[in-house]
Amino acid sequence: MKNTFGNSISVTLFGESHGPAIGVVLDGLAPGIDVNEEVMADFLSKRRPSSDLDTARREEDHFQILSGVFNGKTTGTPLAIVIPNEDTRSKDYTYGPARPSHADYAAFCKYHGFEDYRGGGHFSGRLTAALVAAGGILIPALEKKGIRIETHIDSCGGISDGDFDEQIRKAAAENDSVGGTTETTITGLPRGLGEPWFDSVESQLSHILFSIGGVKGVEFGSGFALADMKGSEANDPLRINDAGDVYTETNHNGGINGGITNGMPVVFRCAIKPTASIAQDQKTIDFQKQENIDFCVNGRHDPAIIRRACPVIDSVTAIVTADLLATRYGTDYLAE
Ligand SMILES: Cc1cc2nc3c(=O)[nH]c(=O)nc-3n(C[C@H](O)[C@H](O)[C@H](O)COP(=O)(O)O)c2cc1C
Repeated sequence: MKNTFGNSISVTLFGESHGPAIGVVLDGLAPGIDVNEEVMADFLSKRRPSSDLDTARREEDHFQILSGVFNGKTTGTPLAIVIPNEDTRSKDYTYGPARPSHADYAAFCKYHGFEDYRGGGHFSGRLTAALVAAGGILIPALEKKGIRIETHIDSCGGISDGDFDEQIRKAAAENDSVGGTTETTITGLPRGLGEPWFDSVESQLSHILFSIGGVKGVEFGSGFALADMKGSEANDPLRINDAGDVYTETNHNGGINGGITNGMPVVFRCAIKPTASIAQDQKTIDFQKQENIDFCVNGRHDPAIIRRACPVIDSVTAIVTADLLATRYGTDYLAE
């Protein structure tokens, strides 16, 4: 039942959508990492709903660092961040009707009626703000080591060229939602990173990526397309350049072989489903009354998760990268 992830650096996530606050505890960080609250606030603003393309719930993310930071640097002890929930509207939620494709029914099966269902409770995208706050510390620390993480929308609403915002607006106008794919690139990683078998780079990244609500697929490099390629097309030819650096001419393997980085950019894509909560009559059940019903979802929701998911993906990628680096080079690596 634990909500903790990571080996050398661990992240513990807590809170519910309509509880007093959500938050994160980062443990195992090196002492001496810069913590700049303005930079953290800036990161949080990338995930924050801001326009008609996002939910009408407006949270300002007034975060507070409770421990683990002194004079603008990490101390090396557990770093706890809390973010209050300030714009909740719990009357929009009733217990029993299960939103199709959301976690309401599954959570009832696991927590037997003790779960806080308001606003999706522990399964709300709201909790990802805490991951982004953590990213606001780790991403700049990784950048100082020359490691850059970048996520962008690759396709949305079934198109990969064109106006993604328009796709989202169109869906919202029809009380519907859209999904899409993101692409992430990590550059500047040392070669030889990854802990096969079970903590391979792919295993660790997928583990944390699938923890983000709405992520339903992850592929590395050419991913599923590799299944239809011949070896002669799929193999990445290895070369050495004049400076003596090894590289591959193509990157179908997404910078990872045997679960270990090979020096090429690590590239992966996520499939993000359309938001489950849509204001249309849908077939579902009332699991308390044990009956079939038609149900129109209330509340304020994102017509697409994908836009707000990009900084979340950056942040969880930073958590895994920091953890793999700390495992290979020692926990002080990020501050050296
Ligand atoms: C940034 C972000 C925002 C989200 N916003 C919503 C939302 O407004 N409405 C909704 O139904 N789901 C939203 N989700 C997705 C749900 O959290 C997710 O679908 C739910 O937890 C069920 O998990 P699953 O889709 O992975 O099975 C959001 C997810 C993220 C990452």
